Amino acid sequence: MNRVATLVTLIVVSLSFVSGTTLARQGEPANQKAVLVTGASTGIGRNIAEALAAEGHFVYAGARKQSDIDALSAIENIQGIRLDVTVQEEIDAAVDTITKEGRGLYGLVNNAGVAVLAPLIEVDEVDMQFQMDVNLFGPYRVTKAFAPLIIESKGRITTTGSISGILSGALFGPYSMSKHAIEAYTDSLAGEMRKFDVEVSVVEPGNYNSAIYDTLLRRMQQRKQTAAGSLYEEELARFLNNASNRPQDKEPDEVSAAVLDALFADKPKRRYMVVPVERQAEVTIRKAIEELVQLNERHMYSYDRDALIDMLDDALASANE
Ligand SMILES: NC(=O)c1ccc[n+]([C@@H]2O[C@H](COP(=O)([O-])OP(=O)(O)OC[C@H]3O[C@@H](n4cnc5c(N)ncnc54)[C@H](OP(=O)(O)O)[C@@H]3O)[C@@H](O)[C@H]2O)c1
Repeated sequence: MNRVATLVTLIVVSLSFVSGTTLARQGEPANQKAVLVTGASTGIGRNIAEALAAEGHFVYAGARKQSDIDALSAIENIQGIRLDVTVQEEIDAAVDTITKEGRGLYGLVNNAGVAVLAPLIEVDEVDMQFQMDVNLFGPYRVTKAFAPLIIESKGRITTTGSISGILSGALFGPYSMSKHAIEAYTDSLAGEMRKFDVEVSVVEPGNYNSAIYDTLLRRMQQRKQTAAGSLYEEELARFLNNASNRPQDKEPDEVSAAVLDALFADKPKRRYMVVPVERQAEVTIRKAIEELVQLNERHMYSYDRDALIDMLDDALASANE
């Protein structure tokens, strides 16, 4: 390399350090972004990882079993990484690995999740802890650990919430509670990340095909939990029968499309509701409106209909800005 070329290379390298960006690695496109997806072994996370990789991004795909890590690593642009979101040592090791890889980290997709089925007045505390440990403390732990890398790249954070972050189904109290918490988590985090130019969003799917019900049923079997003896025996039995005979739900391709928008759109949305059928959108929006009405009714400062419509118009206008 002649002296001029060496000088140009040195200037480019120094500028990239000054601006906090990470150099593209040899053989990788300059605009390739690195994204970590948790819970990428199956279902929505697997779909997101594959969609990102197909778009040419580099995916660190979190999984717990070696066979899943190997299967993910066999896909072009994907590197499987061991990551149980309830184990701090594994999270710290993943930060270490990703830092050493030198691509930086532009996007974090907190997707890992589980569902517990149990009435709130009967649910075992172990099950409640399990639900929150994965769905709520998981995103909290992982985001905290990767925040410096995301801030450095002025990147994006998105979490797979659910329409259960707005709806609260009977027998799904623990799950709904965990997803409601993700709503608050997202808004607070977005407020805190604004000063670092990091955008934060939540993607709220309706029902899509995944392993979530199989995993739920398997765990109930392992813990020898049945409907028998519950005050809700009939309701639980009805759900358990339907869960095991569930017709194939739609593949979650549109959930991945929403995640890509959250990660790469110039002006990402805060909330991405993605549902396979209109009915799920309708019940979710109606529930949000019902809550608004309940919040407003019969107190000293209740607003009348016109004032509420004005507020709705203001919210619609600022969403379209
Ligand atoms: N499918 C739906 O209809 C739907 C609707 C709304 C929201 N969601 C949300 O979508 C997300 C993905 O769920 P899914 O429906 O795609 O179900 P899924 O196929 O069962 O996928 C769940 C993923 O989370 C992983 N996971 C579970 N516990 C973990 C832990 N402790 N640490 C790291 N990873 C863990 C699983 O890994 P293993 O394979 O190792 O267990 C799997 O990769 C969840 O947050 C769920 O609440 C799903």
